[in-house]
Amino acid sequence: MDVIKGLRALLLVLALFFAINGCSNQTDEDKQKNIKMNQLREELKRRLGSNYDLPVAPATVEQLARGKTLYQKICSACHGKSGKPPAVTLTTLTVPPADLSRPEIVNIFSEQARLEIIRNGISGSPMKGLQGLLNEKDTVAIFMYTRTLIK
Ligand code: HEC
Repeated sequence: MDVIKGLRALLLVLALFFAINGCSNQTDEDKQKNIKMNQLREELKRRLGSNYDLPVAPATVEQLARGKTLYQKICSACHGKSGKPPAVTLTTLTVPPADLSRPEIVNIFSEQARLEIIRNGISGSPMKGLQGLLNEKDTVAIFMYTRTLIK
């Protein structure tokens, strides 16, 4: 009887150990991500100055249509058609793509800051900028379309 009780206690301790350890690893990753995103936001605030909080203009029907076509061609492979990254990109890329349908993720940055990320990318990340590949008009159109993905 005592042996079984002892074993049960041991199992419980082991289970708790792995549960706590597993959770703290996850939290560490989240913490790293938060630190990185906060640093990036501060850098963008410095770069954009008083423009940081300016909203980007509302889209015209033409801009949205153009933005949608380009988004689906260039961005959806990583971020998903609906803004939700497909499972395969979450497991194969060195950094998982941001879920562009989730307001709490998207709103880490202001509109101008997200536009700037789309222009210039994020250094050391699979998120590359479009500058030099697309003109400013098309880049803005893509940004405008991404606003419609936020649920
Ligand atoms: C090769 C994969 C890949 C492609 C293609 C890609 N992205 Fe990303 N994107 C990422 C990754 C990965 C992140 C997360 C960056 C990080 O944590 O370093 C990201 C982050 C972002 C962010 C910041 C998200 C936030 O927290 O608000 C925006 C905005 C964004 N991408 C928009 C786009 C748009 C628009 C396109 C198309 C022009 C695009 N991305 C194309 C991989 C990609």
